[in-house]
Amino acid sequence: MHSPAKQSSTPEDVIIEPRRPEFDFSTAPKYWLRDPFATHFINALSVLVPCSERTVIDIIRKYEHKISDPKLRKEIAALIRQEGRHTFEHYRCNTALSGCGYSEIRRYERIQQVFIRMLRKVDAAIWELSMPAAFEHFTSAISKAFIRRQNAWTSGKENSAVSFTGWHALEELEHQAVCFDVFAAIKKKTWLLSVFLIVLWIPATALSIYGIQLYLLYKDNALSSQRNWRRYFRFIAWSLPIFTRGALKYFNRDYRPWNMLDEATYRLHKEKTTRDLLMQTSSGGK
Ligand SMILES: [Fe+2]
Ligand SMILES: [Fe+2]
Repeated sequence: MHSPAKQSSTPEDVIIEPRRPEFDFSTAPKYWLRDPFATHFINALSVLVPCSERTVIDIIRKYEHKISDPKLRKEIAALIRQEGRHTFEHYRCNTALSGCGYSEIRRYERIQQVFIRMLRKVDAAIWELSMPAAFEHFTSAISKAFIRRQNAWTSGKENSAVSFTGWHALEELEHQAVCFDVFAAIKKKTWLLSVFLIVLWIPATALSIYGIQLYLLYKDNALSSQRNWRRYFRFIAWSLPIFTRGALKYFNRDYRPWNMLDEATYRLHKEKTTRDLLMQTSSGGK
């Protein structure tokens, strides 16, 4: 009897661990990151999280039975539990945001739902499986950008929303390989991920996030001076490479999501997040 082929590329010492922390968003300051631009960029991302991550769960569940590697199957189960919790917490976060006067947030969520529903009318496996892989490409890229340059994002600020973002970033990094591995196990043509990213997902994701960010900044009257517009364009130039960097990597047949730098980033950030979550728990989620 031979053992099933190895389909998981997550390192042996990375355990995908579903955590259930609680966050009290009411204690976070309005600009919980270094300035309105960084804050509203991550707030805009949060608006897109519930629908994107529910889509990841749906599609991965649909194709899970085609996976033979027990390690990858276990990782899929853990990813589903992590994403379920992220969806729940981000929905809460978005409710708190819309209660702060950004009432159009719920409309943006609905527009995204209609867009995704339309794309899901095409039910070819290669197309469906590319969606979670593309979403996870962005969540892992944004998470690494946040973790590696946390001080540039926060300017040293600590609050419940920073801990919340740190927790989500850790879990995105932890399960970064799973949707890619599922795609690679079922459909070998991973180079198609680069094509879909360039043609559809990079423009759609960047436009959605910057568009919602612009709305949030407009509501705050944060773009009323030339100086602020200059800061806004500087922020876009600083953040845009997060979306575009690595888009061509799937053309490399030997590409695998984890490298040594990722493992070092993961270990350090896991330690910090574990401490943060313990502090959140001991202060009752405040
Ligand atoms: Fe997530
Ligand atoms: Fe994810």
